[in-house]
Amino acid sequence: RVDGSLTVEALRQTREIREGARILREGGLVAFPTETVYGLGAAATLKSAVNGIFSAKGRPSDNPLIVHVGEKNQVSLVAKEVSPLAQSLIDRFWPGPLTIVVPHRGNLAENVTAGLSTVGIRMPDHPTALALLQETGLPVAAPSANRSGRPSPTEARHVFEDLAGRIDLILDGGPTGVGVESTVVDVSTEVPVLLRPGGITLEQLTEAVGRVEVDPGLRSKDEVPRAPGMKYRHYAPRGQMWLIRGELLPMHGKMRKLAQEYQSQGKRVGILTTEEYRRDFSADVVIACGRRENPASVARNLYHALREFDDRGVEVILAEAFPEHGLYHSVMNRLLKAAGGNVLDVGSAVKPDSGR
Ligand code: TXA
Ligand code: MG
Repeated sequence: RVDGSLTVEALRQTREIREGARILREGGLVAFPTETVYGLGAAATLKSAVNGIFSAKGRPSDNPLIVHVGEKNQVSLVAKEVSPLAQSLIDRFWPGPLTIVVPHRGNLAENVTAGLSTVGIRMPDHPTALALLQETGLPVAAPSANRSGRPSPTEARHVFEDLAGRIDLILDGGPTGVGVESTVVDVSTEVPVLLRPGGITLEQLTEAVGRVEVDPGLRSKDEVPRAPGMKYRHYAPRGQMWLIRGELLPMHGKMRKLAQEYQSQGKRVGILTTEEYRRDFSADVVIACGRRENPASVARNLYHALREFDDRGVEVILAEAFPEHGLYHSVMNRLLKAAGGNVLDVGSAVKPDSGR
C-alpha cells in the first residue's frame, strides 16, 4: 500500500517504490496505479521481462504495449523524432491520459511494439506511477493490469483477482480517478488520428491542435482498427450484455421490459444505469454507475460495475447508452466492446412536440 498523500519526491524514498523499481530493473513485473487504470509494468528494454507481461495477461503477441515515462523529456529516449505536433500535445496534456503514437528509435525490446515501426508513449498523471517511473529510470512498458479480455482494473483488488501468483508486486494506490484508459492518438502522420478514445476527449484534442481524424475502424465494422488492441472483444463481463440506445424514456422502458422477459425465462438479470434512475428499475442486480449528468463519474465507475455483475453471477446485463460526445464517446466505445456489438436501438415512442 502506497501513501497517496505523499509527493512524488517523498514517494521515491519509500520502501515500496524502491522495491518496485528494483524489481523492474531486474526484469520483474510490477502492477501500479495510474490516473486511468492500473498498469502491469516491465522494463521496456528487456525482452524477457516484456514477454512476462504477455504471458501473465494471456495477451495476443500482435498487440503492442504503451511505454510509460516519468519525465516529459524522456520521450526522446524512445521516439525517433518529436514533431512540433507531438510536442504541442505533450506540452498541453502531459502528464495525463494521452498516449501519442510516434516512430521509435529501435532501442526497445521488439515485442513491446509487436514489430511495428511506431510506439505508443505516455506520461501518467499519478504520483505513485511517476515516483516508480522516475526511480526505475527506464521506460516501462505497461498495458492495463487485467487478464486479457477482462474489464481493466481500477482498484488494486481487481489486479489481485486477475493476476495474483503471476506477477511480482502490486502497488496499491487506491482507486484510480479517470476510470477509462488513455486516449491513443497517432501523430506519425501529418493530421493526427484518434485510434482509441479515452481520458482526453476528441473535443479537447481538436481544440489543442485543430484538425483530428478519427480512425474509421472505430466506427465501422468493415474496417480494421489501426490500434491492434481495438479489434478484440475487450472489457468483457462474463454475462451476455445488451446495450440499449435511444431517447431516455423509451430506452429505460425497453430495459424494464427486457428485464422482465429475461427474468421470466429464469435468467439472472442485471441493469446498468445511473444514480438519477436507479429507483426506476427492479432486477436481480441494479447498479448505478455514476451520475448521468456527470460523465466523469460514469467513466470512473464503469469497469468496477462490469466486474460487479460478474461477481454477483449475472447472466444478462442490460445497459443504458449515452450520447456519444465528450467523455461519453469513450464510455460508449467501452460499452460497445463489452457488449460485443449487441446493440438495440429503440425508436422514440413519443415524437417531440406531439402534444405532450
Ligand atoms: O491508460 C492506459 O493507456 C493504460 C495505463 C496502464 O497506462 N494502458 C493501456 O494499455 O490501456 P493497453 O495495452 O491495455 O492498451 C494499449 C492500446 C492498445 O489498443 C494497442 O493496440 C494500442 O494502444 N497501441 C499501442 N501501441 C500502438 C502502436 N504503435 N500503434 C497503434 N496502436 C498502438
Ligand atoms: Mg487493456
